[in-house]
Amino acid sequence: MKRNQLLTNKIVSWAKWFVQQEVKPGEICVDATVGNGNDTLFLAGLVGRSGKVYGFDIQTAAIEKTRQRLAENGLLERVCLIRDSHACMGKYLEPGTVKAVMFNLGYLPGGDHSLTTLPGSTLQALDAALQLIMQDGLITVVCYRGHEGALTEFKALSDFLAELNPKFYNVLRLDLINRPNLPPVLFVISKKHGKGCSLETARS
Ligand SMILES: C[S@@+](CC[C@H](N)C(=O)[O-])C[C@H]1O[C@@H](n2cnc3c(N)ncnc32)[C@H](O)[C@@H]1O
Repeated sequence: MKRNQLLTNKIVSWAKWFVQQEVKPGEICVDATVGNGNDTLFLAGLVGRSGKVYGFDIQTAAIEKTRQRLAENGLLERVCLIRDSHACMGKYLEPGTVKAVMFNLGYLPGGDHSLTTLPGSTLQALDAALQLIMQDGLITVVCYRGHEGALTEFKALSDFLAELNPKFYNVLRLDLINRPNLPPVLFVISKKHGKGCSLETARS
């Protein structure tokens, strides 16, 4: 495995570690970027038989591959796969009901590399996710910086998250600062106890 691939896997593992600390059987989670289904399978394992995972992707290939993997693992009934932009996740779920939302930005590995997540819809999706998560819920975002347009998305995301009101949210950034070639960055947003807030009040 190449060095950067190892780093990517490590960052994704950290995202999973944070989610695993919080999610309990019976809860609702969202995979905002289904891709090849790795995170969807992981979440389906955590929520158990009584929980539910909602998975979003704009590509039919990603949805179908993930459906097949879930079926092979006997986990299909725990997951609702939706071919729609994650920017629309608020149409499918009630505010304050979701324990964890995972984003793994960029393009579908093994697919069309020109079909990537984009700053506008990513920020809309994050805004929606902030409304959906319950108190003590969390959002993880793995953000890449290597492909075309990635740095713009990373900058937009960093600026957006830096403005979240610290009364309501903690935002952690996990960054491999001693590595070359702009490795991926993990953001973890956790919602504190207390009143939920709209986008207007969430920004300081
Ligand atoms: C890096 S891959 C996700 C990897 C995946 N989490 C896994 O475990 O295999 C990024 C995915 O985001 C999807 N994507 C791009 N724009 C999207 C959008 N607006 N809404 C939902 N998914 C999107 C792409 O189609 C691609 O499958």
